[in-house]
Amino acid sequence: MDSFTIKGPCRLNGSVSVGGAKNAMLPLMAATIFTGGKCTLTNVPDLRDTRTMMQLLEVLGIPSSLEDGTLNVDASKVTSFEAPYELVRTMRASIYALGPLVARFGRARVSMPGGCAWGPRPIDLHLQGLKALGAEIRIDHGYIDALADRLKGAEIILSIPSVGATVNLLLAAVLAEGMTVIENAAREPEITVLAEALKAAGAIIEGEGTSRIEIEGVDEIKPFEYRVIPDRIEAGTFAAAAAITGGRVEINDCEPAHMSAVIDKLRACGAEVDVSGATMIVTGPDRIEAVDLDTGYYPAFPTDMQAQMMAVLCLADGASSIVEHVYSDRFTHVPELKRFGARITLEGNVAVVSGVESLQGAPVMATDIRASSALILAALVAEGETRILRIYHIDRGYEKIESKLKAMGASIERISG
Ligand code: UD1
Repeated sequence: MDSFTIKGPCRLNGSVSVGGAKNAMLPLMAATIFTGGKCTLTNVPDLRDTRTMMQLLEVLGIPSSLEDGTLNVDASKVTSFEAPYELVRTMRASIYALGPLVARFGRARVSMPGGCAWGPRPIDLHLQGLKALGAEIRIDHGYIDALADRLKGAEIILSIPSVGATVNLLLAAVLAEGMTVIENAAREPEITVLAEALKAAGAIIEGEGTSRIEIEGVDEIKPFEYRVIPDRIEAGTFAAAAAITGGRVEINDCEPAHMSAVIDKLRACGAEVDVSGATMIVTGPDRIEAVDLDTGYYPAFPTDMQAQMMAVLCLADGASSIVEHVYSDRFTHVPELKRFGARITLEGNVAVVSGVESLQGAPVMATDIRASSALILAALVAEGETRILRIYHIDRGYEKIESKLKAMGASIERISG
């Protein structure tokens, strides 16, 4: 298993380019399943999750190839309707195969994802929604079996604006007969672009980006081409890296309009953030100011930036409170950050971070994608050497993070094996 060795402290200085958004690309890849033809996605990051989704498509009989950010998918034939446990357990987004398979082929068998490092992560809303669309759902030996002749439009009210459920139901409803309304839908940009891509391929959708999405079912979705939007979490992570190291980082190829809540908090911490088109220049303060933070659904502060922001606040002048509203258990990074000398107390979904003057390098363990990037941020400013184990988590969501950080002055090495 690879690990990172990072020597700190360092002050990042330079520029970095942001890749395509993992969480936008995965639904788009799933959407190719029902097109019956050749699709092309560009600005595709070469991540572990990209490769896992390619493997899943392959298992369904859909070959694909990725070269220089261009992903070609040939969905002319689908020969299997089963997403196996081996793939679903390494990437929960494999559940996105459910909607398109049942909508187009009337059957799907997808492994139940199970829990993850930070809690149970249920999929009840996906299944309730599919049932409302007329699918028969059975749980059989750890697998979800979904069957339907043709899905029928329905009004679905999500009790939580789940990104995953909105994706799956959108993918199912575009081919359902009649009108579907998804109330309390997720409003994340990744949903908006999925709807945009589907519309360009023949779907009839209104209201994407709002809490109410209306979908008029059509008979076919044509093959499509789409450019994946910039990853707002990767961009936010580099912005946080500039803030924590007191450096100056020019972040290119990003979409600042998707990052307002993150930019606001970084400014509140004392960082300077200059936005111009697709570029953001972030200059860290001499001493970080404490701020309180609540995560929430888009456009609120993203849970996927909570761990990185916590790392930043570990060095703040004063105490900050962080309330996690999306995943109440998403704090596996807390004990690891404490190994650097951070002072954090945790009660329920509230973490209180009391800023310290400095952090010290330590051996730590990555537990999920974003928790891992928080550990990298802490390691960049910590005095001495840090070894981060289990970095396969970071490879799921960040492409070439070590070379990007190295180019800005970080001392970071990947140790293989
Ligand atoms: C997606 C993102 C993930 C991000 C999360 C929240 C992808 C591939 N992953 O995950 O990076 O952290 O959104 O922004 O895009 N819930 C239920 N029942 C369900 C589904 C969800 O109770 O059927 C709950 C979850 O437990 C959680 C909340 O809804 O508390 C939001 O989860 P959801 O938006 O579905 O997250 P994911 O789509 O899994």
